[in-house]
Amino acid sequence: MISFKNVTKKYNDFTAVDNLSFDVKKGEIVGFIGPNGSGKTTTMKLISGIIKKTSGEIIVNDYNIENDPLKIKASIGYISDSPDAFLRLKGIEYLNFIADIYDVSLIDRKTRIEKYAKDFEIYDALNAPMLSYSHGMRQKLMIISQLIHEPETWILDEPTVGLDPKSSYTLKEMMKDHARKGHTVFFSTHILEIAEKLCDRVIIIFKGKKIYEGTLDELKEKYKDKSLEEIYITLIDENN
Ligand SMILES: Nc1ncnc2c1ncn2[C@@H]1O[C@H](COP(=O)(O)OP(=O)(O)O)[C@@H](O)[C@H]1O
Ligand SMILES: [Mg+2]
Repeated sequence: MISFKNVTKKYNDFTAVDNLSFDVKKGEIVGFIGPNGSGKTTTMKLISGIIKKTSGEIIVNDYNIENDPLKIKASIGYISDSPDAFLRLKGIEYLNFIADIYDVSLIDRKTRIEKYAKDFEIYDALNAPMLSYSHGMRQKLMIISQLIHEPETWILDEPTVGLDPKSSYTLKEMMKDHARKGHTVFFSTHILEIAEKLCDRVIIIFKGKKIYEGTLDELKEKYKDKSLEEIYITLIDENN
């Protein structure tokens, strides 16, 4: 679960996240939508403890980020929007490195790496250096590396960008499955169709502020004659 209460993040004088409050419950899959620069990545980095809030309260999996940042890190999988880390390592070396950090046993990591790498069709590439990987392959490896400790809560920043259609489908099925098992999935996208297919609810953010929270069906009901894309543009206009 994720709970934000009146969270603000400033970079010097600039307010990237502005008094933001929302909850994502266990068993939910919630889409985080907003135009470029609206504060999605900043929010996700706040949840994972990569950056610190300026004010407000952040609770993740019942831990307060002030008191238990490491417990939060151990209970989430955070997939960032830039899959370019440790490129000199081979895929398998990177996965083992991450598994070491999360203290995953040799047996568990072997089973999980094999399963996920085969699901994403990069098993045969694990012994090659990540420098030789395409963007999509790096993205797949980052995803696997963040599932290796079987985290309760998934935080995925534009996770399908750069993935081929089959892997994108595989990931979306995994996300649904994870939520169905009673876990939490919070992901950002600017592709409304993905949100429509996957989400129980969406949170729309613009200039660091929440401008909508609810189901896309409720939105469509409210703006009856409009397409999702038109509704989104209308919402942004209304809040600009
Ligand atoms: N490290 C930083 N220092 C200063 N400004 C930043 C930093 N990171 C992000 N920003 C600014 O904060 C705003 C929100 O960025 P971001 O959270 O990346 O948005 P999104 O992911 O929705 O595109 C943008 O205007 C961006 O330029
Ligand atoms: Mg972003």
